[in-house]
Amino acid sequence: MMAKILVTGGTGYIGSHTVVELQKEGFEVIIVDNLSNSNIDVLNGIEKISGIRPAFENIDCVDYVSMDRMFEKYPGIEAIIHFAASKAVGESVEKPLLYYRNNLVSLINLLQLMPIHKVKNFVFSSSCTVYGQPDELPVTEKAPIKPALSPYGNTKQIGEEVIQDTIHSNSFYKSIILRYFNPIGAHPSAEIGELPNGVPNNLLPFVTQTAIGLRKELKVFGEDYNTPDGTCIRDYINVVDLAKAHVISVKRLLEEKGESPVEIFNLGTGRGLSVLEIIQTFEKVNDVKVPYQIVGRREGDIEQVWANPSHANNVLGWKAQETVEDTLKTAWTWEKRLAKLREEKKQTEE
Ligand code: NAD
Ligand code: WQD
Repeated sequence: MMAKILVTGGTGYIGSHTVVELQKEGFEVIIVDNLSNSNIDVLNGIEKISGIRPAFENIDCVDYVSMDRMFEKYPGIEAIIHFAASKAVGESVEKPLLYYRNNLVSLINLLQLMPIHKVKNFVFSSSCTVYGQPDELPVTEKAPIKPALSPYGNTKQIGEEVIQDTIHSNSFYKSIILRYFNPIGAHPSAEIGELPNGVPNNLLPFVTQTAIGLRKELKVFGEDYNTPDGTCIRDYINVVDLAKAHVISVKRLLEEKGESPVEIFNLGTGRGLSVLEIIQTFEKVNDVKVPYQIVGRREGDIEQVWANPSHANNVLGWKAQETVEDTLKTAWTWEKRLAKLREEKKQTEE
């Protein structure tokens, strides 16, 4: 068994896929999650794929005392991957204090507890949202940070600064900050995937839920953007590819290969796709219809953004492998699996 890794938010969407990849590489995983946006059954899915049930603690990262006890219960944790955060952009506009408290206090607690428990290494989930609408595309890590468009986005910008300042003040810590573009898809086994709470805000869960008939039609937000087909462009990255980048980052930290105490990497494919391209490709590869209607723009949307992933490609030795076609197939297989589970639940209740 290799090093012990703490994964906060490990029953969430990206966290659960990362736990599986860590286990595959022999790491021992401890998950801390308060299940505010995930389900305990995710542990069954992880166990089915890897054959190992990770240690799990239902703790709120905002609770310093409980986190302190957790570190005492699992001595020898060597690295933390910190996924735990609230992530709904719209909700963050309505409830900014909830977002600042949850996302920033959790982070500060971990950074305070790390030296006490001799944990040096920290991987942080950041987002391409820090770039806003970049002046140049594809966007590199050197692009300026633009004023955040939401409290959620601001928590990522402030989070990055909190990490930078902490490391600047104390050479004990080492960190890798990962800026994700748009994660989509599910594990090919369809044992784990995205579990959106209520009406999805993100494009892919809305596409799959519309295709399966849970939603009448998808609303495409705007077709008058300055893009080839008028709809917004994003860099959609396969969630398993994304998970693998975390394993590489943890290894880099443990092996002390970093070129500086804090390193920042874009995690994207380097390819931008429009909303209409996503819908059309989804329909084609899955042979299913996605009824949609073009409506007005969504407030706060960025017109177009995609990554220059060269830094991650060259320095981390990580590259997105999966095609968007295969990724969209996994998203559809997962949605069908969820439908089957709903049906089975209904039958046992009757
Ligand atoms: P998710 O909501 O599926 O996972 C987050 C997990 O953290 C959930 O299981 C939730 O229950 C848990 N959690 C939240 N607050 C907690 C707390 N205070 N204590 C303990 N557990 C807590 O989200 P995700 O899509 O897997 O995102 C993971 C991380 O990646 C987040 O930090 C998010 O901001 C970031 N990110 C996500 C995306 C995306 O599009 N999904 C893009 C860029 C960055
Ligand atoms: C993608 C495209 C929409 C839904 C958000 C956060 C960002 C990051 C990723 C965490 C856009 C269009 C969507 C729909 C649509 N998260 N769309 N109809 O906006 O790139 O980013 O998630 O850090 O911070 O802001 O992702 O999936 O919401 O939208 O037309 O019902 O799909 O307008 O162009 P986005 P998204």
